[in-house]
Amino acid sequence: MKTYYITTPIYYLNGVPHIGHTYTTVAADVMARYKKARGYDVKFLTGSDEHGQKVELAAAQAGVSPQEFVDGLAETFKGIWEIMNCEYDFYQRTTNPEHCDSVKKIFKKLYDQGDIYKGSYEGLYCTPCETFYTARDLKEGNCPTCNRKVETIAEECYFFKMSKYQDRLIKHYDENPEFLMPLSRRNEMLNNFIKPGLEDLCVSRTSFKWGIPVEFDPGHVIYVWIDALPNYVTALGFLSDDDSLYKKYWPADLHLMAKEIIRFHSIIWPCILFALDEPLPKQVFGHGWLQYDGQKMGKSLGNAICPKALVEEYGVDAIRYFLLREFTFGPDGNFTPTALVTRYNADLANDLGNLLSRTVGMVEKYFDGTIPEAQAENSAIDRDLIEMATTMLEKVEERMEKLAFSEALNEIWNLVRRANKYIDETAPWVLAKDESKAPELATVLYNLAETLRILAVAIAPVMPNTPAIIRAQLNITDPAHATWESAKTFGLLPRGVDVTKGPAAFPRIEKK
Ligand code: MSP
Repeated sequence: MKTYYITTPIYYLNGVPHIGHTYTTVAADVMARYKKARGYDVKFLTGSDEHGQKVELAAAQAGVSPQEFVDGLAETFKGIWEIMNCEYDFYQRTTNPEHCDSVKKIFKKLYDQGDIYKGSYEGLYCTPCETFYTARDLKEGNCPTCNRKVETIAEECYFFKMSKYQDRLIKHYDENPEFLMPLSRRNEMLNNFIKPGLEDLCVSRTSFKWGIPVEFDPGHVIYVWIDALPNYVTALGFLSDDDSLYKKYWPADLHLMAKEIIRFHSIIWPCILFALDEPLPKQVFGHGWLQYDGQKMGKSLGNAICPKALVEEYGVDAIRYFLLREFTFGPDGNFTPTALVTRYNADLANDLGNLLSRTVGMVEKYFDGTIPEAQAENSAIDRDLIEMATTMLEKVEERMEKLAFSEALNEIWNLVRRANKYIDETAPWVLAKDESKAPELATVLYNLAETLRILAVAIAPVMPNTPAIIRAQLNITDPAHATWESAKTFGLLPRGVDVTKGPAAFPRIEKK
């Protein structure tokens, strides 16, 4: 079986995750579910980034130990992934002892082979972001990510010889045009950062204690990048007693993240892997930010929207649908409550919800609730719907492989809209008035119910709960009628089965 290993970044544990954070994880969950549906042996990793000065300070302020502090927040984050219906296989924490052991081994190995050496560093540092910047990186003198003041700090530290791997990295980009996507980000990294020259990287700190110690030099802790980035391999048991998962699933098929951390994943991480003589992930994909009023959503800017509240109000499937349908995956997207309500009412309440309730309602009304047996030949209008239903999934696959979620959903909704139009074109209420048209009426209702069966399969990766609602109403019980491949064939839905009308799947929301 073909394997598929997908990762999100490990999240900094600060406060409660907002809907911007959930964007990466929901997208990764959708890809994982999609690949599983297509028969891959999938592993999906997420986790938390638990070391560093910021955690040390926050724990002190809260009057608890850093470990207690991160233990509590890791549970909060896991709770949000549950609310968002994200089903990861591994949750890696950087305080996990196995992770710490492997990181120590990585650091020591790179030191022993001369890729890490001791020196002194002076630079511009943003404490909240735990990142050093060059003067060129700053935005109006401030941190380019959070806009706050940076400080000049100097300290003795260990350096990683990134410069040594520059040519190999350029070669890798040349030979693997899809290593970093979207293409605009690839060009930005190559032209602005890699080709102008890679500088050696400071990979230890003496200014705080909350981190993995450098074993051969107490006083130094391993700084975030050699601690955090290797989580992608330590989660698989890299350099542990049992590295069978690593052998099976590495290299990762996809590292998914938002744009501000692409640089670390597409430059630092590949160089670490080069130094370890391990293969690089097949693809790094950096999507845009979810913004609010044109600014990156985040706790520090006070514009963070809580996923829990949204899910309570709209339902998890609707929020997942909105995140992936409303914004093109790649550029930034502006979140507004109005867009959410508009999208919900148009696509979910009107298009999909109505298609289901109208279909089931008409089977009840015209055939006593039983999907009819007798059928007429398909007419040109029927054939048009059937053609679209049987070719839809292939188009969805094409888009999904490129992470074009919004386009994939649009392909699915083209069929939803086509089916609603089919109801208007065939006018079942007119056919019902003429006894001799009963076979045509039966054909129309069968075709609609079968289209809904196919739609239930297609929406499942994005909307994991809705297929069960559709299947319960159409009484689809055979798992063979719910597989991905089954949705490429029209006519599998059993005839003569009773339907059960349920409450509206997506009740309309009045604009507030
Ligand atoms: N800890 C680092 C990653 C280390 S990976 C080895 C980190 N953590 S984070 O919590 O700040 O971000 C986690 C993910 O959420 C990243 O992909 C980040 O870019 C994403 N997002 C955080 N806020 C976001 C938005 N407002 N919009 C979209 N994604 C956002 O970075």
